[in-house]
Amino acid sequence: MTERIFITGDKHGSFYPLFGLADHVDLEPSDVLLIAGDAGYVWDENYHGNIETLQQLFPGTIAFIDGNHENHQMLSEFELTRWNGGQVHQISDRIFHMMRGELYSIYGKNFFAFGGARSVDKHRREESVSWWKEEEPSVEEMEYAAAQLEKHLADIDYVITHETPLFARDFIKRTKEIDEDYTLPAFLDDWYEQIKEQKKFCRWYFGHMHVDQTITPQLRALHNEILLIGEEDQSIRWI
Ligand SMILES: [Fe+2]
Repeated sequence: MTERIFITGDKHGSFYPLFGLADHVDLEPSDVLLIAGDAGYVWDENYHGNIETLQQLFPGTIAFIDGNHENHQMLSEFELTRWNGGQVHQISDRIFHMMRGELYSIYGKNFFAFGGARSVDKHRREESVSWWKEEEPSVEEMEYAAAQLEKHLADIDYVITHETPLFARDFIKRTKEIDEDYTLPAFLDDWYEQIKEQKKFCRWYFGHMHVDQTITPQLRALHNEILLIGEEDQSIRWI
């Protein structure tokens, strides 16, 4: 049995990279694929077809954090259960939504997950059709996650967020506006400061910006690239 964990960024319901992954890698049922938000496969009532296709393309387990562009209402209605030590919504036998502030131990590596972000295009979207106010983490969720992070700080190997730490935006060419009252990116700066010197901590991955870019040796923006945890310096060819 292989103990591989793949990670990638925003997919917005696209299967193309997964067709490519299946073409280039001999995938196994024990493989795990993590998605750093905006997976987009659970979007409307047609999601069953998407889930079937995902399960055909990827023989292992897929777990995603939520981004901003997700049907948060629909996600919240799936059964709550536990997967690898953390709370999840179970979408299907092998597909899970990782929840905000939860810690998951996968093949001996501890992942701290925190989804959500504010959409810069929400003025062009319709509430409960293409935009959901739950996209943005609440104060309670941020407080819960901050407490979890502090409690498990020394044990965390990887952090996965959808939102970008504020300081990282200066290095990314693609800009996204930040409203004055939107505190999450600055919150993530505090978390990064807390974790970056920890001995076990390896890397922090985030999505949202739709770029593949290394910000610091420990902080990386993910979009199309698919990486193998433990061998992240090489991205997997999927085109
Ligand atoms: Fe996105």
